[in-house]
Amino acid sequence: MHYIRRPDWALPERTVTPEHVFFNRRAFLGGLAGAAALGLAGRSARAALAPFDPRPPLNPAFANAGRDITDEAINSRYNNFYEFGSSKAISESAARLVTDPWSVSIDGMVEKPRKLAFEDLLKAMPLEERIYRHRCVEAWSMVVPWIGFPLARLVEFAQPLSGARFVRFETFHDPEIAPGQRQHWYPWPYVEGVSIEEATNPLPLMVVGAYGKHLYNSMGAPLRLHLPWKYGFKSIKSIVRISFTDKRPVGFWEELQGSEYGFWANVNPDVPHPRWSQASERVLGTDERIPTQIYNGYGAQVAELYKGQESGRTIWY
Ligand code: MTE
Repeated sequence: MHYIRRPDWALPERTVTPEHVFFNRRAFLGGLAGAAALGLAGRSARAALAPFDPRPPLNPAFANAGRDITDEAINSRYNNFYEFGSSKAISESAARLVTDPWSVSIDGMVEKPRKLAFEDLLKAMPLEERIYRHRCVEAWSMVVPWIGFPLARLVEFAQPLSGARFVRFETFHDPEIAPGQRQHWYPWPYVEGVSIEEATNPLPLMVVGAYGKHLYNSMGAPLRLHLPWKYGFKSIKSIVRISFTDKRPVGFWEELQGSEYGFWANVNPDVPHPRWSQASERVLGTDERIPTQIYNGYGAQVAELYKGQESGRTIWY
């Protein structure tokens, strides 16, 4: 049994420093100055942060998120990545993660389990750019120009057996590099999952870059998931294993605190988290607080997946 230690998210909203205080001008400028140094520290042989050349084409269906893109200096330095600590300022610690070489296992209920070098996976997948909104359950949000490939394409590549109902993702486990993983009360490694129907929807993106460059370690290099209609904790970082299964995976936060962090975690402003409202969100890098949209505004693409299940809490947490 795990000793339950509440994550920072567990703070009541009133005790969280307002974004405009956190991002005062000095801190912001300091962040900009530090970004170059951080870039060097985070560089690996693959040249993390190296620009994609050519830059993958922007998908016209996701070329505009209806809001300004969040500043790169904010996005790369204000993170949730518990492997490197429970504060938002983990970027320097995360820069120590060696992301080259990196390999990804595809296993479980598939035609042929295999382990691929990350580069080989990249070569096999069609890269594109998509601008997505990201909504954390902590009620902050941002807009990111991701580079990646559709998860649906990876499912096709993996050739799952007909009985596979879910896709389970797993993050690296290396307590020597990641100090958070020495905190044994957490159920490492970080795990997340989606149903096969969700995985084959066109929206989920396997992310390998952002802002035209390979990913910052703080953002989940070299490979993460982004599920724009779900709370951010579903979008698992630094993935080493993708498994197909007939059992619903239990995510990291669900295992820690199942009454608060469920499997589905679809964004809904009308269903409060047990301890906070989800009605609105702070837009990082601005002083704005805006109303939250159901499915984070992606209902046209995903609402069909949950038809008939909208009442009650089941699909919201
Ligand atoms: N993935 C791993 N492996 N570890 C984490 O702690 N945090 C999640 C998600 N993926 C997390 C993770 C949470 S709570 C959020 S909101 C997003 O990553 C944050 O992504 P960002 O730091 O790129 O904004």
